[in-house]
Amino acid sequence: PADQVKQVWTSDDDTMAKQTATTRWPKIVQGTIDDVRQTAAQSSCAAQQEERFAIQSALKEMKDEMLQNKTLSRLPADGGGDIEGYNTRLAYLGDKVTWNAAPWLFCECYLYRRIQTIFARSRHWQTYDVFKRQKDSTFAKSRAAVEELASRYMHIITDSSLAADGVTDDEAKKLLFVEMTEIALWGNATDLSLLSNLSLEQIQSLQGREAIAKSQRNIVDNDTDQVWMYLMHTPRSSRRIDIVLDNAGFEFFTDVLYASYLLESGLASSIRFHVKDFPWFVSDVTPADVDSLFSHLQSPEIFPNREYLDRLLRRLSKHFDSGALTVIQHPFWTAGCSFHKMHSQAPDLVEDLKASSLIIFKGDLNYRKLVKDGLWPHTTPFKDALGPLGAKSGLKILALRTNKADVCVGIDSQSRVDALYEEAPQGAWIRNGKYAVVSFSDGE
Ligand code: F6P
Ligand code: MG
Repeated sequence: PADQVKQVWTSDDDTMAKQTATTRWPKIVQGTIDDVRQTAAQSSCAAQQEERFAIQSALKEMKDEMLQNKTLSRLPADGGGDIEGYNTRLAYLGDKVTWNAAPWLFCECYLYRRIQTIFARSRHWQTYDVFKRQKDSTFAKSRAAVEELASRYMHIITDSSLAADGVTDDEAKKLLFVEMTEIALWGNATDLSLLSNLSLEQIQSLQGREAIAKSQRNIVDNDTDQVWMYLMHTPRSSRRIDIVLDNAGFEFFTDVLYASYLLESGLASSIRFHVKDFPWFVSDVTPADVDSLFSHLQSPEIFPNREYLDRLLRRLSKHFDSGALTVIQHPFWTAGCSFHKMHSQAPDLVEDLKASSLIIFKGDLNYRKLVKDGLWPHTTPFKDALGPLGAKSGLKILALRTNKADVCVGIDSQSRVDALYEEAPQGAWIRNGKYAVVSFSDGE
């Protein structure tokens, strides 16, 4: 049962949790220190420059605490209503909990919330996004894939050739749904907290359409057919779909394409994008990243091949202008707990989501939160691992996630699990981002 499952801790041997805590976190924090230096050097405001020393030393202090495996200190008030929740959980966990011996999910959320307190409490850096530089530069490297997908999208949307190949209209529609879903799925392969040191070539090899097609066999739990059946058999007159976003840049571009396709195909009548309140897990979408996406896509310096992109941008803007596509926020998305706590921590959100025809959760972190970062047997049905959000919740949940952590459920059989461990030893199939899940729960 969900209340008894063991969560991954940063002290668990041979886990991604341990590896992340010991090697990746200090690097990520060092990256923020370097970024602040760079921004200060370019700033024309003397007071902002001056304040950078205090900010850097607060960041450095956190990095040292990690390296020395200290306890997690209480978060200082910064005006956020969520601070209390973090501190209550810290008090509950007690002094024994240190950076290298803590529940991975909570500790990682705490890390990003703590970085946020440092900027939020400053005078001249309050709305500063310490990961923006990195988000922007990686997106610029996605040029080939963005241009390719723009062209592909404009073709499929205006082309009836799919139906001409002897496939029936319904089959063609379904194939299109599968393709668009997979584009949004594999868009998640390029998140920055994991893949920050990839070369341009490596990034591109993850993104093209061919790469996406090849990866189909690596979807280890694939409920695409069930989602399609569900969408085909429910009333369409007014159908709202919610997408709880993950990363900015390339992944977000694939999400906007997906949303646009869902609207234009009539599968959805409105779409809401849920974004994070502040910089989160390096690359997650904040409200400012929504605007950035469009200004980047409009830039001929970043995307010189305008043939399809300009036409596509006009279509996308129309969806935003008409109100069919909207962006919303909720503080629960940056809380330190799993989604199993949604009923007690954010009852308003549960009610709101019940009115949605489908809630699509993008990415690894959302998936970890959905299944409580629990070390479930891999054959556990997805619906069971959802706990209170699963059976009888009334929530229609679809997770599109490339596997980048220690948890994965929904595998058909133990023999399939064994085969995966053989094919990708040491649990690489749960961790290396080359395998994925398309997991659906109808909430019944
Ligand atoms: O360990 C992989 C990791 O960095 C986790 O910290 C986190 O769950 C995830 O990647 C972020 O990935 P995504 O952007 O897909 O949620
Ligand atoms: Mg992310």
